[in-house]
Amino acid sequence: MTIKNLSLEEKKAYAAEMNRKFMEKDPKEALRFFIGEFPGHVALSSSLSYEDQVITDMICGICSEEGWKVGDEVRIFTLDTGRCFPETYDVLDRTNMQYGIKIEVFFPDYHKVQEMVREHGINCFYDSPELRHLCCNVRKVEPLKRALQGVEVWVCGLRRSQSVTRSAMQMVEYDSADDVIKLNPLILFEETDVKTYVKDKAVPYNKLHDKGFPSIGCQPCTRAVKSGEDIRSGRWWWEDPDHRECGLHVRK
Ligand code: ADX
Ligand code: SF4
Repeated sequence: MTIKNLSLEEKKAYAAEMNRKFMEKDPKEALRFFIGEFPGHVALSSSLSYEDQVITDMICGICSEEGWKVGDEVRIFTLDTGRCFPETYDVLDRTNMQYGIKIEVFFPDYHKVQEMVREHGINCFYDSPELRHLCCNVRKVEPLKRALQGVEVWVCGLRRSQSVTRSAMQMVEYDSADDVIKLNPLILFEETDVKTYVKDKAVPYNKLHDKGFPSIGCQPCTRAVKSGEDIRSGRWWWEDPDHRECGLHVRK
């Protein structure tokens, strides 16, 4: 099927109906259903953090059960901002090897990066919220838009308990900014559920998670947190916590 020909109201109604259907179910069932419904038009955006590694493992499991292939029926891509941690590249390689897949890597438009750096400096994100959002737009949001071309179902690793900005998110939503169905299979998972899954299934994971980094983004904008601190408090720690989103999930 395609959602592209539906009216806005129909798209929202479809997402709401699917949300009711899958919210309380095993996340794998939602993934299996959507890949079956929209073959070739489902894509996981993976930051290679715990949550996305769990979803990658689920997708690879479903593919081997159904005779589907990553890269055909379902895609997995990552956005390389150019400012990632070495540990993130390491887990990218290990994941490809363990599952026998090739995660697609999208890069920012170098003209836009050069212009931003020339105008505002290489670390401009520390100077103001506007420049931080500019950097996230150039390095993440614009490449995301390219990566989502042709996609009908965008799979993400968002969880409600990650932050105040995510507490009202649903498992299935219509995302009007990208004109896609957004599927958050782990929306109701707690951090312990994610960790247990990774351990039980020997899923490859970013070694920074063992060093006090529960949430991992770009190197200059992520730091370790102390035990008991909010899990996203190490992201853009110098900004107001109620607005700590990069524009991938909350568009200005
Ligand atoms: S962010 O918006 O603050 O950076 P977060 O790191 O919590 O997001 O990740 C939430 C979800 O956004 C991930 O599960 C993933 O689907 C997507 N995402 C975040 N960063 C990337 C990235 N570099 N590449 C691909 N997807 C990403
Ligand atoms: Fe730029 Fe930091 Fe956003 Fe990465 S997280 S794109 S370095 S502002």
